[in-house]
Amino acid sequence: MTPKPALSVPGIAYGGDYNPEQWPEEVWAEDMRLMREAGVTMVSVGIFAWALLEPAEGVYDFARMDRLLDLLHENGIAADLATPTAAPPTWFFRAHSESLPVDRDGRRLSYGSRQTFCPSSPAYREAALRIAGALAERYAEHPAVVMWHVHNEYGCHNPACYCEASAESFRRWLRAKYGDDLAALNDAWGTTFWSQWYYDWAEILPPRATAAGPNPTQLLDWRRFCSDELLSLYKAERDVLRAAAPAIPATTNFMVMRGADKMDYWRWAPELDVVANDHYLMYDDPEPEIDVALNGDLMRSLAGGPWFLMEHSTGALNWQHVNRAKGPGELRRNALAHVAHGADGIAYFQWRQSKAGAEQWHSAMVPHAGTDSQIWRDVVQLGADLKALAEVRGSTGTASVAIVWDWEARWALEAPAQPSAEVRFEGLVRDWYEPLWRAGVAVDFVRPGARLEGYRLVLVPSLYLVDDEGAANLTGFAQRGGTLAVGFHSGAVDANCHVRLGGYPGAFREALGIRSDEYFPLPAGETLGLSGGGTASLWSERLRLEGAEAVASYTEGPLADVPAVTRHSYGEGAAWYLATRPDPATLASLLTRIRTEAGVEPVRAAPEGVEVVRRRSPAADYLFLIDHSGDGARIAVAEDAVELLTGRPAPGSVTLAPGGIAVVREPRRG
Ligand code: GAL
Repeated sequence: MTPKPALSVPGIAYGGDYNPEQWPEEVWAEDMRLMREAGVTMVSVGIFAWALLEPAEGVYDFARMDRLLDLLHENGIAADLATPTAAPPTWFFRAHSESLPVDRDGRRLSYGSRQTFCPSSPAYREAALRIAGALAERYAEHPAVVMWHVHNEYGCHNPACYCEASAESFRRWLRAKYGDDLAALNDAWGTTFWSQWYYDWAEILPPRATAAGPNPTQLLDWRRFCSDELLSLYKAERDVLRAAAPAIPATTNFMVMRGADKMDYWRWAPELDVVANDHYLMYDDPEPEIDVALNGDLMRSLAGGPWFLMEHSTGALNWQHVNRAKGPGELRRNALAHVAHGADGIAYFQWRQSKAGAEQWHSAMVPHAGTDSQIWRDVVQLGADLKALAEVRGSTGTASVAIVWDWEARWALEAPAQPSAEVRFEGLVRDWYEPLWRAGVAVDFVRPGARLEGYRLVLVPSLYLVDDEGAANLTGFAQRGGTLAVGFHSGAVDANCHVRLGGYPGAFREALGIRSDEYFPLPAGETLGLSGGGTASLWSERLRLEGAEAVASYTEGPLADVPAVTRHSYGEGAAWYLATRPDPATLASLLTRIRTEAGVEPVRAAPEGVEVVRRRSPAADYLFLIDHSGDGARIAVAEDAVELLTGRPAPGSVTLAPGGIAVVREPRRG
């Protein structure tokens, strides 16, 4: 395999989306001065500029982009040049109204916003590749251009379209998947149920609105198709850009953050030269710093190393119910936490806060108030911080714990007509991640079929669907001496969403040494006591030991005395089952017990509320210490340590101010 082209911006790149077309050109000169003041090194340009770049079909106006790229270059700022294909111009839709997407209910949407196009539209694909080709041809050699920003957040607003062109494309995808064998599809989808048997490929539809619930396998294949369909658009644009400029890396920005479940990024990540993410804090998350960490670890795992934070916010957003500003020091803690979890570039949406348009109330690096503002002072400070961290670039995390994360399992679990609609994938993963984060234990995320050598502990908080290979991989890990912990309702169905018969949790029954014959989900707010203390919620099941031992049982209810947590010595290792959702303190002590038994230690002892993350290079460990407690702390480090943000030696210990951050370099020995 030829190595992927890398980003040539030195150190930790710093910048944001730059949309100067919203401003008169006099403002551009001030932008350059301020970017230099803040230490900005790269900006993403042209993301939503299609209507200006191609005012009529095949007619280009590159004058403004020429001036902009030249200006950036003169000021030593690199450009991540976007293909503007997330926002087709009005003229395009007037000529191709069939490219407007259709929703589940058969309603065709209108132009007048962004990303309102059908991913399967041939006219859209043609127009997108044409503008991408024109940009590539014109700017492949421009010295400012260091990366291609393909499209923007694929599938953010249009993850699925239910029109006839989409139906045709879905059928093509299905024919390829099932080897043109309709009987195989009927079998996989279980179409004998509710008289859904298909006699002709032409009969198959996207899961459009129906009076009763959808077929779960059709729905799952549909979600797989929708992710692949947008991925094929990405690849088509990337290939056009690559043909013109093979040395310039291509990226697109993922949405790996709370609530986003649209694409299967395990399939996307290998197609990107630079794996990038957009991350926003949710206003109703009491500890959003845990979401930052979790998603950073997931990104590092998707990228297989450092990644790029393409967007986050300096302050309030404009698309939540209440758009919260950031508290003192939070901008800095957020950005440096992304770096701690592997980001080699930090960027914002957007450079200058808009005065008009749909996002006029979204924060930016240069706020409405101008430079006499807290946000601007923080932005300048962050530029200096990132400069001081230049040597961290390229280093990455190491972990002995892997958490299984799988989009297909999530989609299948969250489809309608499950035992409980209260069971949500992301919440379960977060439940298990939190105590590890609090303890300063490093984790990677993996797919069920990933290589697991090198891990001591593999956690499976929720894996409703798993294929046979994935299941064998996970149980084999325990058999060969690893410690495996599995959450309830995992292993229940195979890759076609068919229930694994003979008792739950299907694929993991034997390795876990248990068997359940019936699920007893618990309504929201209902809890059951656990022997040994603590409570259980969300789920319970009538479980029988078949070789495992009970670690905790229910003390009440219809399942009194039935095991709720079990441990099975399996092969050379151990396999734990959590048949319920223990309260946070009980889960934390269980996971501490499990990881201690597996020999997993925190990165470094630190007081509660101090996040500790390590990046490692061949020569040094970089210890990121972030105080979220507001109390400050003193932490032991090596005698020859240096604190990079201040540049001062930190012989033996480092002191964190309340809400403060330190990044400590410790030379590696031996
Ligand atoms: C992202 C998008 C940006 C901007 C931002 C606001 O989803 O890529 O263009 O809209 O959200 O938070």
